[in-house]
Amino acid sequence: MIFQDDIDEKRRGLMIGGAVSATAAMLPAVAQTVGPQATQADAPEAAPAGAAFTLKVNGKEHQLTLDARTTLLDALRESMHLTGTKKGCDQGQCGACTVLVNGRRINSCLSLAVMHEGDAITTIEGLGTPGSLHPMQAAFIKHDGYQCGYCTPGQICSSVGVLDEIRRGVPSHVTGDLNVKPLLSATELRERMSGNICRCGAYSNIIDAITEAGGQA
Ligand code: FES
Ligand code: FES
Repeated sequence: MIFQDDIDEKRRGLMIGGAVSATAAMLPAVAQTVGPQATQADAPEAAPAGAAFTLKVNGKEHQLTLDARTTLLDALRESMHLTGTKKGCDQGQCGACTVLVNGRRINSCLSLAVMHEGDAITTIEGLGTPGSLHPMQAAFIKHDGYQCGYCTPGQICSSVGVLDEIRRGVPSHVTGDLNVKPLLSATELRERMSGNICRCGAYSNIIDAITEAGGQA
């Protein structure tokens, strides 16, 4: 004779057995989902491969191993500790990071360090020394071509590059006649220095300094 209690007991057994089976069936899927995630979270992040190269800065060779995406500006400041070159905008708008590469001025924040192996790089530290200033540095001091000084290394490197461009006969946007000597009008210099921003507004004194250094050059 089958009693109602026996039926309920069997039903309970079936339900429990079914639940266990369903859970067991899900386990591999759960294990597949959780397992790899846990492994990834635990694994140390792989360091980006470094590029080994040599930079010649201010006449001295520096052997570096850096992420190939490192800018010249960051390599100068962070790896070679040449902090005279300043970071203003880090996107090519202010000129604070200007250095000379093979005599020509560039924004070091817009150039990758690894691209400059074999180049001669000059920063503000390499232009002159406290005991023997570059004529442009001396002219900036004489004419008060700065206030806070943050933009000044870039202004001076850029000014040196400007005078070299004028000597080589490179015209600017406002040059009317390349035969005019010296090509040092305020309009000419303002145009050529327009990539170097000075928050303190020392522009007129900067033009005076470049004019004097250009006259001596
Ligand atoms: Fe390079 Fe501003 S920091 S242009
Ligand atoms: Fe201060 Fe130029 S001197 S930003």
